[in-house]
Amino acid sequence: MWRCRSRRRRKARCSSGWRPPASTSSTGSSRTASRGPSCPGGFDLAGEVVELGAGVSSFKPGDKVIAINFPNGGGLAEYAVASASRTAARPPEVSAVEGVCVPIAAVTALGSLRTAGVTVTLDDPARAPATPKNVLVTAASGAVGHFAVQLARMGGHNVTATCGARNLGLVRSLGADEALDYKTPEGAKLRSPSGRKYDAVVHCAAKGLPWSVFRPVLAASGTVVDITPGFVAVVTAILQVATFSKKRLVPLIVTPKKEEMELLLGMLKQGRLKTVIDSRHPLGSAHEGWAKSMSGHATGKVVIEIGAAQP
Ligand SMILES: NC(=O)c1ccc[n+]([C@@H]2O[C@H](COP(=O)([O-])OP(=O)(O)OC[C@H]3O[C@@H](n4cnc5c(N)ncnc54)[C@H](OP(=O)(O)O)[C@@H]3O)[C@@H](O)[C@H]2O)c1
Repeated sequence: MWRCRSRRRRKARCSSGWRPPASTSSTGSSRTASRGPSCPGGFDLAGEVVELGAGVSSFKPGDKVIAINFPNGGGLAEYAVASASRTAARPPEVSAVEGVCVPIAAVTALGSLRTAGVTVTLDDPARAPATPKNVLVTAASGAVGHFAVQLARMGGHNVTATCGARNLGLVRSLGADEALDYKTPEGAKLRSPSGRKYDAVVHCAAKGLPWSVFRPVLAASGTVVDITPGFVAVVTAILQVATFSKKRLVPLIVTPKKEEMELLLGMLKQGRLKTVIDSRHPLGSAHEGWAKSMSGHATGKVVIEIGAAQP
């Protein structure tokens, strides 16, 4: 797998004509076009420290780590440079393939739930919330969504999930107690089969939905966190603040922090959280992984492996 050079505040080298794809693991977040120099690699990394920058004492060569290089990318290479403050030690119980799925996707899932006011029980499994919330996760079969479902369920909340028909069983197995096919009329309206009104929506589906779809299915003070906010979403959010609306849309761009990555790695280590891998590709076939990720039809994460056998 990757060897990762951990340096403080150094950028990854950018040299090729690639738009930054998603490193060893890929999430749709990199679909946003980059204006800077194009980088041969992505955002999520897993590997081994080979060299430390001046003043970095939290790691040593040989340490197994995961890291996030956002927004510069640089992950599709045998060596990458990552900031020590965005690098976390990977426990031996968590494989590099599992670990690399954490930075953007799992941290975004966690941040979205917290932003929506949903308590997530990270450290003490016995500590469930006094009042469980009704949580909807859209695109629950995707990279962010499959973590959001698990984290919400772990917090003792009621979870409704939307996904394609082929993944209804998967999202139920991850903890959703209601699953909706987004291609059916009821799924398109986000209607809970049991009539739940949602206190929180983690909207992961890349396609934006008009506020008129969310409003009728929200509880009185329901919050929708949109992780792919477009212009209309931002304007809607501003207007809602200006008019003191109780139902709210919150655009969110998450920047993963080391502490959050460590917490989530700990949950993987304990077996409380699991990663769903859509597919693994050797570096020579990275374009295939990239295309799968960009298709918007991956189930979980797409992983590129450096050093894996060529097909
Ligand atoms: N704000 C942030 O910090 C942040 C961080 C990470 C990602 N993101 C963004 O989050 C979005 C989600 O990315 P992702 O990688 O997690 O997932 P993704 O790749 O977009 O999700 C793919 C999965 O979602 C299903 N799906 C597609 N459209 C759907 C819909 N309208 N309703 C329900 N399910 C649907 C697909 O099922 P079928 O194949 O059956 O159609 C597929 O299994 C992307 O737009 C990405 O840019 C934002």
